[in-house]
Amino acid sequence: MQTHYWNLQTDTEGAALREAAALLKKGEAVAFPTETVYGLGADGLNGAAVRKIFEAKGRPSDNPLILHIANKEDILPLTTGLTKQAQILIDKFWPGPLTVIVAKSAVVPDEVSAGLDTVAVRMPSHPVAAELIRLAGTPIAAPSANLSGKPSPTDAETVLADMQGRIAGIVDGGACEVGVESTIVDTTGEVPVILRPGGITREQLEEVLGKVELDPAIAGVEAAKPKAPGMKYRHYAPKAKMYVVETPEALQLLPAFAKEAAKSAPVAVICGGKVAETMQRAEHLHILNWGTDKKELALKLYRLLRRCDKLGVGLILSEGVAEDGLGLAIMNRMRKAAGRQVLGADEMQELLKNSTQLKSFVLK
Ligand code: TXA
Ligand code: MG
Repeated sequence: MQTHYWNLQTDTEGAALREAAALLKKGEAVAFPTETVYGLGADGLNGAAVRKIFEAKGRPSDNPLILHIANKEDILPLTTGLTKQAQILIDKFWPGPLTVIVAKSAVVPDEVSAGLDTVAVRMPSHPVAAELIRLAGTPIAAPSANLSGKPSPTDAETVLADMQGRIAGIVDGGACEVGVESTIVDTTGEVPVILRPGGITREQLEEVLGKVELDPAIAGVEAAKPKAPGMKYRHYAPKAKMYVVETPEALQLLPAFAKEAAKSAPVAVICGGKVAETMQRAEHLHILNWGTDKKELALKLYRLLRRCDKLGVGLILSEGVAEDGLGLAIMNRMRKAAGRQVLGADEMQELLKNSTQLKSFVLK
């Protein structure tokens, strides 16, 4: 399949979005920017169109999609009714990086909801997304525009790398602003539940809702079955094995450990601020510095994970951050990418004492 590529910077006539919207209306899949990550869109009321998304991504069909709308009131036909909590969230945070789970109406195809009796809806704030949805004149079903299992794309070049030849078009509207996906809140029960932390923080939600619960699966409770079906898959995964390094003791050992480890295979260290300053240069050691605050880290995390793949490293060590504010979403993604593996100071010290063991740790 030929994949159209529209660069909005060179599109002075405004034809690009009209063409992209026409393809969406015809039942094709088109990628577009949102404020969080790039989405892979299709007409959300057309089951056959929605199936093309699953095919292009290689996404399991039991994983439901988010419907994207251009006006707040466009949620009304999609649901049998909004709870008070849902209404509060919509009033306060739309347009923006917040998805609400609501009771679904009969117009929502099973392909979108994967057989659930609820549907996920979001009104993005990105002007390109808003205009494209408006021109298409229909809710747009859109997961992140990556191949299933890869980190979500935050720029159009990355979408192209994953999707060229698999979809009808890509709208290049520049880099995303948030970098992690939207926060998903289930509003159908007594107390709202965060199913996926994201661009709107838990603190922001609590400010308007009072009590908000966290799906136990987010906190890493082993037995907990995530309520957002997609959260059970090994998402956001780079190719190399990855460990989160979080305690002050472990972070102190990180420079020496990384340098030693890089003698056996290329190593990437994802870190920022103070920790980045302590890192020492060495051959085969890639220091991927995200800067100084969580906003920057959220924006860069997926890109850095993909960079690790390109560099072909054998081991990724990633500095953990505190789980307040955007830190909750960041650590959720980072832990998933690492398959929940954590490297502690004791283990680092042991490995540093024994170079054969360290070598087999890096190469295993
Ligand atoms: O920021 C975002 O949300 C991006 C942009 C493109 O809007 N989209 C995105 O979509 O992240 P996706 O498909 O990668 O993630 C959607 C998540 C999945 O984990 C899915 O299981 C969950 O939403 N989900 C969808 N419908 C649901 C429902 N009815 N109940 C519970 N979880 C649902
Ligand atoms: Mg995704």
